[in-house]
Amino acid sequence: MLPNVMDYRRRARKRLPRLAFDYLEGGAEDGIAMARNASAYAELEFRPDVLVDVSECRLETQVLGAASAMPAIVGPTGLNGLFWPEADIHLARAAHEAGLPFVLSTASTSLLEAVRAATSGELWLQLYVQRDRRIAEHLMDRAWRNGYTVLFLTVDVPVHGNRDHDKRNGFKLPLRPSRRLLLDLASHPGWCWRMLRHGGPQLKNLAVSANARENITEQAAVLSRQMDLALTWEDLAWLRRAWRGRIVVKGIQGLADARRAQACGMDGIVLSNHGGRQLESAPCPLEILPEVAASLGRSLEILVDGGVRRGSDIAKAAALGARAVLLGRAPLYGLAARGPVGVREVLSILRAELETTLRLLGRCRVEALDAGAVRWRRTPP
Ligand SMILES: Cc1cc2nc3c(=O)[nH]c(=O)nc-3n(C[C@H](O)[C@H](O)[C@H](O)COP(=O)(O)O)c2cc1C
Repeated sequence: MLPNVMDYRRRARKRLPRLAFDYLEGGAEDGIAMARNASAYAELEFRPDVLVDVSECRLETQVLGAASAMPAIVGPTGLNGLFWPEADIHLARAAHEAGLPFVLSTASTSLLEAVRAATSGELWLQLYVQRDRRIAEHLMDRAWRNGYTVLFLTVDVPVHGNRDHDKRNGFKLPLRPSRRLLLDLASHPGWCWRMLRHGGPQLKNLAVSANARENITEQAAVLSRQMDLALTWEDLAWLRRAWRGRIVVKGIQGLADARRAQACGMDGIVLSNHGGRQLESAPCPLEILPEVAASLGRSLEILVDGGVRRGSDIAKAAALGARAVLLGRAPLYGLAARGPVGVREVLSILRAELETTLRLLGRCRVEALDAGAVRWRRTPP
C-alpha cells in the first residue's frame, strides 16, 4: 500500500498513457477552478479540543437514506474503462467492501445490470439527459428495476468544458493513430495489453438505452451532441414522475440555485464544479458550502465535491455542513495505479486518515463535527 492518495496519483501518471491520464486529471482551460478546489482545503485549519476521551471513534453516517461507513461516497465518473478493464465493476465492489454507496455514470463503460450482478452494495445512478427524453426514461427504468435507489441529475454539463489537454493529445474516440499517440502507447505496454485483451472502452449503458451501435463514435455523439441544451428547472417535474426514488441535483454552484432545488422539492444537492472540468473559474464548492448550509439547514441533504484527497478533507467538509463528500479522481488514481486493489487501498487510506483526524481533533463522531471545529486561515470571498 502506498502512503497517501497523491502517491497513487503519481503512480497512475506513470502507468497510464498521457492521453488517458490527462483525461482523468485535467481541468478546464488553465485549471484555475480545479486548483482552487484543492487549495481551499489547505486554507481551512482545525480547532482541536484536547483531553477528550477518544478511545471510541464512530465514522458511520446516513446519506440519502442509506448507511455509509463514513461521510463519503464514490462519485460518478465516465469512461472509466479507459483506466482499467471493467472499471465500474471494480469501483462498485470496492465501494461496497468499504461500506460506501457507489454512483454509476450515464457514461459508464459497464452495463448497469452487470454492475448490479457484481455487487449487492448500495448503487445510485447519475443521469445526463439527451434531447430524446425516451433515452433517459429507459435508463431510469432499467436502473430502478435493478435496485438503483437514488438519481443524481448532473446539471453542469450542457456542453463539454474547454479541455485544452484533450485537444493537444488528439483525444477523440475512436483514437486516431498519430506519431505522438503511437509513442505514448509504446511506452505503456501494460495498459495496451489490458486494452487489447479486453477491448477498448464503450459507453455500454447509453448504447442500450439510445439504441446506438457497438461503435464508440456513435455512442460519444449521443452523449455530447445530443445533450438536451433546453433542460430547465421546469423539467424536474418530469423527472419526479419518471423516477420513484430520491433525486439529487449535482452541479449546484451558488445559493440561488440551491434554493431553487429546494423549492422544487429535491432530496439533495451536490455543490460541485465537476472537479473543475467544466466552467473555468467556477466557484469553489467548499467556499460556498457554509452559506448554503446556513440558508438551507436540514431541509435537504447537502453534499460537496472537488479536491478531496485526504481523510482530513472529509472532516473539514462535514464540519462546514456537508452530509458527505463525493470522491471523484481519488478512487480513479487507485484504479489506474494498481487496479482493483488500488481502489480498495485508496478508500481504506481515506478512512484511516479520517479516523486519526477525528481522534486528534477530539471529536470522535461524525455528528460532533460542526463549524466550531474549523476556521478559515483567510476570510473566504
Ligand atoms: C475522469 C472523470 C470523469 C467524470 N465523469 C463524470 C460523469 O460522467 N458524470 C458526472 O456527473 N460527473 C463526472 N465527473 C465529475 C465527478 O463526479 C466529480 O464531480 C469530480 O470529479 C469531483 O472532483 P475531484 O475529482 O477533485 O474529486 C467526472 C470526473 C472525472 C475526474
